Amino acid sequence: MRPMRLDRYLGLCDLGTRKEIKALIKAGRIRVDGALPRGPEDKVEPDAVQATLDGEPLLFRPVAAVLLYKPAGYLSATEDRGGPTVMELLDDALRKRAVFPVGRLDKDTTGVLILTDDGEGGHALLSPKSHVEKAYVAQINRRIGKEHMDAFARGVELSDFTAMPALLEPLPDRDGAHYARVTLHEGKFHQVKRMFAAQGRKVLALHRERFGSLTLDPGMKPGDWRYLTREEWSALRVEAGLPPWPEEV
Ligand code: URA
Repeated sequence: MRPMRLDRYLGLCDLGTRKEIKALIKAGRIRVDGALPRGPEDKVEPDAVQATLDGEPLLFRPVAAVLLYKPAGYLSATEDRGGPTVMELLDDALRKRAVFPVGRLDKDTTGVLILTDDGEGGHALLSPKSHVEKAYVAQINRRIGKEHMDAFARGVELSDFTAMPALLEPLPDRDGAHYARVTLHEGKFHQVKRMFAAQGRKVLALHRERFGSLTLDPGMKPGDWRYLTREEWSALRVEAGLPPWPEEV
């Protein structure tokens, strides 16, 4: 990675705004490889330095990408448009970084939601051209049969477009309720619900269990989130047809 200004580097260690960072440097609380920096405009080699705040090593995170277990009742948006948004579930450092949700899940949908400040990666994952797989488990009002599986495999016709072929698999009933898994390569508004509706089925609950190679961790609960590792984010970027890591961060 190319050399960058110290204040930018420290911003990517989630130390706050340029003003806050300048004050920390001035107060002598920051060291770079053990030495006091001259000022915010010092140049650092991001891959080769270790900065500290009050002696505590800082974690340099050039890209923020997060896996959130979206609970029901939250909007997949950055601004409040009539309800709590998923941003409220994150912390201040992530909100300051201006992460955005990669696609929308409906307010009542639960499961895997990715948020990132990597605009290139996020937008590529959203692009209909990238065809990244998304898998959903739907609770439906009535069982499905072979005719529905065939219809999904052919591509369900909706009022404004024909969905791309999708895999529909019946799942075992639980407590008298009926379930099916749908695996799609696109993500239009209300798509899963509309595909079922076109086949005479109503979705009673919807959960996204996978986005590309990414699933929830065992033990994660609704509202939990964690940073993706560099490897996980790189794998998703590659699935979306991009190089593993952004050139400019
Ligand atoms: N399809 C839907 O209908 N809703 C979602 O939230 C996601 C996919």
